[in-house]
Amino acid sequence: MIASENRGNWGSRLGFILAAAGSAVGLGNIWGFPMQVGKGGGAIFVLLYLVCVFVICFPIMIAELALGRSSGKSPIEAFAVTKPRSGWWLVGTMGVLAGVGILSFYAVIAGWTLAYVWFTATGAVVGTSAEIGAFFGAFVADGNKNVVLSLAVLVITAAILLGGVQKGIERAAKFMMPALFGLLILLGLRALTLPGASEGLAYYLKPDWNEISNPQVINAALGQAFFSLSLGMGAMITYGSYLSKQTNAVTSAVWVASLDTAVALLAGFIIFPAGFSIMGFDPSTSGPGLIFAVLPQLFATLPGGQLFGTFFFVLLALAALTSTISLLEVPTSALVDRGWPRKKAVLVLTASITALAIPSVLSQGAVASLSSLPGLGMDFLTLMATVWNNWALPIGGFLISIFVGWVWGADKAVAELTTEGAHFPFAKGWVFLIKYVCPLAILFIIIMTARGFFAG
Ligand code: PHE
Repeated sequence: MIASENRGNWGSRLGFILAAAGSAVGLGNIWGFPMQVGKGGGAIFVLLYLVCVFVICFPIMIAELALGRSSGKSPIEAFAVTKPRSGWWLVGTMGVLAGVGILSFYAVIAGWTLAYVWFTATGAVVGTSAEIGAFFGAFVADGNKNVVLSLAVLVITAAILLGGVQKGIERAAKFMMPALFGLLILLGLRALTLPGASEGLAYYLKPDWNEISNPQVINAALGQAFFSLSLGMGAMITYGSYLSKQTNAVTSAVWVASLDTAVALLAGFIIFPAGFSIMGFDPSTSGPGLIFAVLPQLFATLPGGQLFGTFFFVLLALAALTSTISLLEVPTSALVDRGWPRKKAVLVLTASITALAIPSVLSQGAVASLSSLPGLGMDFLTLMATVWNNWALPIGGFLISIFVGWVWGADKAVAELTTEGAHFPFAKGWVFLIKYVCPLAILFIIIMTARGFFAG
């Protein structure tokens, strides 16, 4: 048994919802979602994404929370104590590795947001679309600067984690979420009232049905849904393990999934109308620089834009931090549950992830062979994002749904979720989804994608 003061608990139900929403809401919503919509052909991607969120991912979020709360353990141990003498702990191990892998590229982009706080505050990003794009390109190609920035992100994350679960995570999330939401709505209103915004809106909302049978696009939508909701790697198992039995996990999951989806959709309502209106851009080719190119130009159309812009990037950096915290918390809690002191776990992990982040940092123009990997036609950072988001997380989600639905047992999960008389109104529907729909749908998408991949 491990000393329980090492682990900690959430201060309140609201604190939990904010922390879990803080994990979910991050770069995935504001940086990743618009970029994926652009790559995936616009509205059709949005539609596929929403189906993945509500039919596949939301049931898995409930499953992860139930497993975490019932076991009171981090992912590896959660599987091990729920099904002793089996190989299921490996699923938890895969999640821990995914946390490390995702954080290694996530920290790089979070570092960009830190730099853009400074750039916006000092008025460095101004000019024509082409100039602002070139500014971004030159900045991300600066290897030294970006190593320092990624390191800064990881060090801040580690410092917050050392403050412990409740104080660190809850406090950051409580202030940030409402502020971010408010600012996004304001920016959305500005974007939608720009001349020519309707073209962007049509791109965002009117599906091109030809793309619906493209397995790559479906796979990207699924991966984005897992990534955005922090699922498939045990982040929600870990957060669920800090949840008290008095807190209704199902209601909390509804809140977290709704907030996360609302923020992603809002980001699209900002980027596409603004992008089409101001720049007449081609979203399918804009890639990781999309928001860094569009947003500074949107701020320029606002009175006091410099101030709004700075505030926006501060909030985006904070949103990224509440996600990096949860990414680091998964491997940390795994080591703490193995008897490591929290401090040692955090320090060893931070050092390793920093090392792993370096190839991603250098893949944005600093080192040519990393910036266009031979034979793959993509940079190292994009490769990491694809491997972890589009493959590891859905495979993790597939295994979690099998585990909770069949191995632990959906009825046991329902019993856990309804302890202390908690309401679970659609329990029967959830059981059907977690046992049949989630695993079969994920398997189908993965097989289709793999076939397309190997067929070239
Ligand atoms: N959900 C976070 C985001 O959208 C990223 C994340 C993925 C966090 C997986 C934790 C676990 O930015």
